[in-house]
Amino acid sequence: MQKIDGKAVSSALKEDIRQEVEALKAKGAKIPHLAAVLVGENPASETYVNHKVKACNQVGFQSTIIRRDATVAETDLIQIIDKLNAEPDIDGFIVQLPLPEHINEQRVIEAVAPEKDVDGFHPLNTGRMVAGLDTFLPATPAGILELMRYYEIPTEGAHCVILGRSNIVGTPLSVLMSRKGYPGNATVTLCHSRTQNLAEITRSADILIAAIGKMHFITADMVKSGSTVIDVGIHRVKSGKTKSGWKLHGDVKFDEVSEKAAYITPVPGGVGPMTIVSLLRNTLKAAARKNQ
Ligand SMILES: NC(=O)c1ccc[n+]([C@@H]2O[C@H](COP(=O)([O-])OP(=O)(O)OC[C@H]3O[C@@H](n4cnc5c(N)ncnc54)[C@H](OP(=O)(O)O)[C@@H]3O)[C@@H](O)[C@H]2O)c1
Repeated sequence: MQKIDGKAVSSALKEDIRQEVEALKAKGAKIPHLAAVLVGENPASETYVNHKVKACNQVGFQSTIIRRDATVAETDLIQIIDKLNAEPDIDGFIVQLPLPEHINEQRVIEAVAPEKDVDGFHPLNTGRMVAGLDTFLPATPAGILELMRYYEIPTEGAHCVILGRSNIVGTPLSVLMSRKGYPGNATVTLCHSRTQNLAEITRSADILIAAIGKMHFITADMVKSGSTVIDVGIHRVKSGKTKSGWKLHGDVKFDEVSEKAAYITPVPGGVGPMTIVSLLRNTLKAAARKNQ
């Protein structure tokens, strides 16, 4: 079994981005600026946004966090988005999800200007992705493709089984893995909560991607020997053994599945760090497009 080290790959890719930023600085060009809108006090969202800001610092981007209470009105949030859309210094921005229940997430996603939508969630960018056109790919699927590329995981003709059909992970991954090219050319099965005989399907997967948000759902008996297992799930469990007081787990029972898989991503240190790198890359791309 080979552990897919998302932390190491993301560090190498961040170094590439840092060098590109250095080159921009040397030319006297503007350095990329990413903003994040954080609503409420969800501890997981707080952690993700802090990681994104830290990554911006590491590569030399400018970053800004805009915080609002969980009680913020949807119209006020849309006003903030309108301002960010119009602000020339901001190259790209994200609105950290999930949002409080009184806010319609889809309306918020659609309020973001497509050319600053570095999360790649706007329907225009989704449509461009489906059509195989240049766009901002959603960060987590793009990070998973990058890991496959880095480890040279064969995908052509492979049976790729994806668990979970969310708009941010499972559904875009199903499109990207079935596209012509590498990574891609896979035969994709997209599973969800209504799928029948799930274990039978997962056992036939050469590449199994779990994005269902159920801790340790994938057990060794659901996995084919020699397959590649990508664990997208993130579950924060209280722990007395870590400095932060939390321990992260995935959708996959790593200890037993790693005995059977040829390649497997751990949690933490697998897909998570790659999601952040994809966001940085999209921001770099947004800045470059603006400069052109
Ligand atoms: N590592 C990262 O950077 C990253 C990024 C994003 C998300 N995540 C994590 O990934 C996980 C999934 O998040 P998400 O936002 O993509 O998904 P989500 O919106 O929570 O949706 C879960 C999906 O799993 C399906 N599902 C639920 N129970 C199932 C079951 N028993 N069998 C088969 N399918 C089942 C659901 O089916 P239905 O559609 O039928 O309800 C749905 O499509 C979460 O743990 C999240 O924290 C991690």
